[in-house]
Amino acid sequence: MQKVYLDNAATTALRPEVVSVMTEVLSHEFGNPSSTHQFGQASKSILERCRKEIAKRFNAVPGEIIFTSGGTEADNLIFHSAVSDLGVTTIITSPIEHHAVLHTAEALAQKHGINLELVGLTDTGAIDLDHLEQLLSEQKEPTKVLVSLMHINNEIGSILPIEQVALLCKSFGAYFHSDTVQSAGHYPLDFAALPIDFAVAAAHKFHGPKGVGFAFIRKNSGLNPIILGGGQERGMRAGTEPVYAIAGMAKALEMAYDNLTQEHDYVRQLKVRFIDGLRKIPGIRFNGPCCDLSKSTYTLVNVGLPISPEKAGLLLFQLDLKGIACSQGSACQSGSSGGSHVLTALADIGFPLMPSLRFSFSIYNTAQEVDYVLEALAECIKGAN
Ligand SMILES: Cc1ncc(COP(=O)(O)O)c(C=O)c1O
Repeated sequence: MQKVYLDNAATTALRPEVVSVMTEVLSHEFGNPSSTHQFGQASKSILERCRKEIAKRFNAVPGEIIFTSGGTEADNLIFHSAVSDLGVTTIITSPIEHHAVLHTAEALAQKHGINLELVGLTDTGAIDLDHLEQLLSEQKEPTKVLVSLMHINNEIGSILPIEQVALLCKSFGAYFHSDTVQSAGHYPLDFAALPIDFAVAAAHKFHGPKGVGFAFIRKNSGLNPIILGGGQERGMRAGTEPVYAIAGMAKALEMAYDNLTQEHDYVRQLKVRFIDGLRKIPGIRFNGPCCDLSKSTYTLVNVGLPISPEKAGLLLFQLDLKGIACSQGSACQSGSSGGSHVLTALADIGFPLMPSLRFSFSIYNTAQEVDYVLEALAECIKGAN
């Protein structure tokens, strides 16, 4: 049976070159990078070389890159420390953020009485920048504000005009954090040019290993660690670093950025082919701006399907039986906890709430796979009606 993996927004396959680098480090460099002997120093030198290389890709200084276990931990570090160390008392975010942001912000609001504001969406599903400006202008001195808006939405693929938002936040003296998990390794990010305070990345979204990522924390930001212990990561994150995984992440980023244009074009044409095919299925709807290639990422399509909610769970199962992996993007019709909070937020601004699927592509997909999935999908929809 053919197997087609179209769930690359959830995680990606490792590049063979990444596996080679990791295997090499695992086999030969087991020293603890904090040890002063030669074994430790060999690991330390890999660690710091990776930090330098990664920093260079984002036009940051090495000290601004703090290795973490991934995007969730990096988001948590920034939020918790912004409240306890920077004195942030208002967090402005949006209803379509990843739960790593939303649940963290909600917990801080509950535990520390932080004022939590949600920016509205425009009728296309984009962040309403006028509303953001209004919310910022309502905050009175000496309130310290953290704005957190993701660069690329992991469910509907919408792209935030990150530079415009960063400038807006700066003009109001607010801290700006962006969850860049879906854009790091996919789009160029220049942290020297962009007036952003904090950003995050996860290696497994760009063909690197799981369990490793980093926080970009602007120099002299005043943040402190939330994981306490040894003085690793320049005192910002205790715990012995997984050098092999960090080396894998550095290799994955190197390859992602060295091949960016060519790979972007390749994946983009798969998405276009898929959208063109989907349009031929009567009754389908695209969620958010995901079929507008100027407003959404080149990797992802979230599509509402003309089937009853009862048949929706079955559809994912039927596709799985045909070897097709994608994600359920179904909004909760009844407000049950199983639905997507992103699609629910879109429903609030008038997008029809339909059983939905998210398909996300990578360099390892082919046009033949796209055609196979289109055919299988059309067949399953027909069978469900
Ligand atoms: C936008 C976004 N933020 C954060 C995360 C969490 O990253 P990690 O899995 O590395 O903790 C993800 C992963 O699904 C994501 O897509």
